[in-house]
Amino acid sequence: MLDNLPLIVANFKANKTWDEVASWIQSVAPKAQTFPGTVVISPSMPFISEASQKIKDQSLKIKLASQDISKFEQGAATGEVAASQIKDLAAYTLIGHSERRQNFGEDDKILALKVQNAISAHIEPIFCVQGGDSPVPQGVKIIAYEPLFAIGTGNPDDPANAKSMGQKLKTNGNYLVLYGGSVTAQNIKSFLKKGLLDGVLVGTASLDPQSFLKIIEAVSK
Ligand code: PGA
Repeated sequence: MLDNLPLIVANFKANKTWDEVASWIQSVAPKAQTFPGTVVISPSMPFISEASQKIKDQSLKIKLASQDISKFEQGAATGEVAASQIKDLAAYTLIGHSERRQNFGEDDKILALKVQNAISAHIEPIFCVQGGDSPVPQGVKIIAYEPLFAIGTGNPDDPANAKSMGQKLKTNGNYLVLYGGSVTAQNIKSFLKKGLLDGVLVGTASLDPQSFLKIIEAVSK
């Protein structure tokens, strides 16, 4: 239904200038081209357009995700980016990352609006949850399980636990489930082996293209 699995999503958060994003793409592109899964990058909003152009011009096998999307549609919403404004640029959008929930007061109602807008614009939401109890809005096909204690801490979840969370989430719907939280080249295989989990969301270890390349290499073997 979607792109090839596993999905390896690099979330740059509020890091990198355009030059740095461009040189990252340049470094990772050759490996992404032969990777059997899908490499998705999530740069800051101002670079989505240029990144999309670069990917198109060079026919690269890299997909784009925005890190967020507005709960509003196009109109009087200063500072926001509406889903329909980037629908031709980003295949995916993160929605409900814990940093958005915690620091920007995004609640279930707001997140459901964001999901609705993304889906109407044909952008695939990657809906982030911290555990099995968060409501998942209708229409979501991809969930990212990201336990709070594991994000940016170097302290990943136990792979067995992440897998059983994946299993639990999948009993509630026909979801793809990604794991996120301190994923590295050293631990990625333990999260992806034996199926159940369909990909990963990588923050810190995605920033350096060389360390990200090692992540792709680890799952290509
Ligand atoms: P981390 O971030 O890889 O730095 O833990 C993951 C995320 O926030 O998506």
